[in-house]
Amino acid sequence: MQRIFSGIQPSGVPHLGNYLGAIRNWVSLQAEHECLFCLVDLHAITVWQDPAILREQTRLQTAVLIAAGIDPVRHILFNQSAVSAHARLAWIFNCVSRIGWLNRMTQFKDKAGRDREAVSSGLYVYPNLMAADILAYHATRVPVGDDQRQHLELANDIAQKFNHDYEVAFFPAIEALVPPDAARVMSLRDGSRKMSKSDPSEQSRIALTDEADAIAQKLRRARTDPAPLPEAVDGLADRPEARNLVEIYAVLAGLSPAQVLAEHGGKGFGPFKEALTAIVVAAVAPIAGETRRLLADTARLDRVLREGAGRANAIAGPIVAEAERIVGFLT
Ligand code: TYM
Repeated sequence: MQRIFSGIQPSGVPHLGNYLGAIRNWVSLQAEHECLFCLVDLHAITVWQDPAILREQTRLQTAVLIAAGIDPVRHILFNQSAVSAHARLAWIFNCVSRIGWLNRMTQFKDKAGRDREAVSSGLYVYPNLMAADILAYHATRVPVGDDQRQHLELANDIAQKFNHDYEVAFFPAIEALVPPDAARVMSLRDGSRKMSKSDPSEQSRIALTDEADAIAQKLRRARTDPAPLPEAVDGLADRPEARNLVEIYAVLAGLSPAQVLAEHGGKGFGPFKEALTAIVVAAVAPIAGETRRLLADTARLDRVLREGAGRANAIAGPIVAEAERIVGFLT
């Protein structure tokens, strides 16, 4: 059985992009794989996080993931900082990975923007930690959204270089599992930017904790263009906002974008947005409701994470100890 690893940063409330790009896939992969799902708090602090809010978001995300269908009993759900193997292997990978490789990471360029000299060094070496997350478990399949592809290529480069430099066949190759549709859900305010937890505008995203009326309002206000919906998929080519809404509709309804346009093409956005609202509410409302219920018992959430970390540590501990031995540490 192949081992799955994936992670999400507890730096905000998970949104529809996280759900369609990753979480939905995580839930279905549970049937046939051994899975580890991680709240990556070490990654989160690469940009400033208020400590109390970080703790709160970590619990909130745990609740959202369980509400969305992650099973913390049959699989492992934990927070990254509770398993020291991640940080230990990340340090080794900091020494394997090359500056030139990191300089090519588009996510760093996006996040650092013009402030490149002022961001944390953690943000820069972030992809090395991500490689450590996965390889500490010898996981081979990683379900992520489209934006993480480049990081996973880097993780493969690190694994190969480690194996080559130390003349071992220790770390396996990893495969990105990116969904065929809606792997990059865009902001509701700007079709050229991805939907993101860190966007200052709440109107830009549907949170998985949003109530029905908030969802309706955000979709009603979602940016579109004045033309009616096209009759065929090529008509979406230069219309990123329209494409985004059609793709969201299609995946949630289990249809292709062409089928959605066969029904809604030629009509205005008003009625389409109403139909879309019903579909999004049907997907999100049960998750939001169950999340609220789970948040009433934070002691239980903390217990889930603690138990998950114990089980994660039992897998990663020996693998990372072996990596340390290979490197030449007296352990
Ligand atoms: P994060 O927290 O940004 O996002 C979690 C997951 O959601 C996906 N995603 C999206 N998918 C589609 N459309 C969007 N707008 C969108 N926004 C986010 C992401 O691709 C991701 O799968 N570096 C990672 C977390 C991480 C990780 C790992 C993932 C740390 N270690 C090891 C896999 C394996 C991140 O920041 O995800």
